[in-house]
Amino acid sequence: MALLEVKQLVTEFHTDDGVARALDHVSFSLERGKVLGIVGESGSGKSVTAFSLMNLVEKPGRVSGGEILFKGEDLRLASAKRWGQLRGDRIAMVFQDPMMSLNPVMRIGAQLAETVAIHSKATRAEIEQRVFEALQRVGIPAPRERMRAYPHELSGGMRQRVAIANAIINRPDLIIADEPTTALDVTIQAQILYEMKQLARASGTALIWITHDISVVKDLADEVCVMYAGRIIERGPVAQIIHAPRHPYTRGLLDALPRAGSPGKRLYAIPGATPPLLALPPGCAFAPRCGHATRACTAIPPVFEQGGREHRCFFPLG
Ligand SMILES: Nc1ncnc2c1ncn2[C@@H]1O[C@H](COP(=O)(O)OP(=O)(O)O)[C@@H](O)[C@H]1O
Ligand SMILES: [Mg+2]
Repeated sequence: MALLEVKQLVTEFHTDDGVARALDHVSFSLERGKVLGIVGESGSGKSVTAFSLMNLVEKPGRVSGGEILFKGEDLRLASAKRWGQLRGDRIAMVFQDPMMSLNPVMRIGAQLAETVAIHSKATRAEIEQRVFEALQRVGIPAPRERMRAYPHELSGGMRQRVAIANAIINRPDLIIADEPTTALDVTIQAQILYEMKQLARASGTALIWITHDISVVKDLADEVCVMYAGRIIERGPVAQIIHAPRHPYTRGLLDALPRAGSPGKRLYAIPGATPPLLALPPGCAFAPRCGHATRACTAIPPVFEQGGREHRCFFPLG
């Protein structure tokens, strides 16, 4: 059984101007210890996916269809009490802004200790040892001193590391990381990514890594989902998708990446912009920006499965 199986998930925002379908029948699965990348431009539905999985979608939004099977249990049916058991223990999230998961007026050591104490009956000494180890594992220097610090006393990078330590401390089965390194400089990004992957491998924790930058998941993820306007338009093993994308949108994302070999060369940009959800074109939402589109693309492409990969395009690239 897959650790996580998401089937036909639909999340909608009921606004004064209409219903915005932010997730339109999103399906994917994730095995234990694997890393899934979710990639797409800003506004494609990546954070809504994470929030939907964590039961954190707030009004005017609502998860209105589909199933989220976590070890076979449908999380859409889970009670508030059940979520209290799961969240922070079996499933943890790392937000783009570390202060979303840290308490500004609580010392770091105390916060992490609380995360452990809520879910276990460990002794004070055991808890302190686990806090120390978690901070050490995310590469925080002098963890004993840092445990006494408040979040504002740390740099952005260190704060995000603490948030990650808080997510891993109970060895969850699944961590969802929503662009956790976007605000950090590239060197720290690469380092944190590498460490997270090692952690996932060593502990059997599965990881969903969300980013707008497809190059970030290139070396980290096993599989990747590419999102556009609330739909997964391509999904499969990351190496195959990067080497031979089938959806023209994925091709565009890859072509827009800066190349190490040709500095200063003008970068390709996908023409046009992402359409607002309340004004999606009929059919394939990417069609107006796509060089391959024909009249056929005014119908919504179904999911085409081929060789362990999926795409939603009538005219996939060879
Ligand atoms: N609170 C909200 N109210 C209305 N629409 C929302 C809200 N949050 C998200 N959306 C819609 O969902 C889309 C996807 O948002 P999001 O998942 O945050 O994008 P991203 O891929 O950048 O993380 C947005 O473009 C917006 O149309
Ligand atoms: Mg986001």
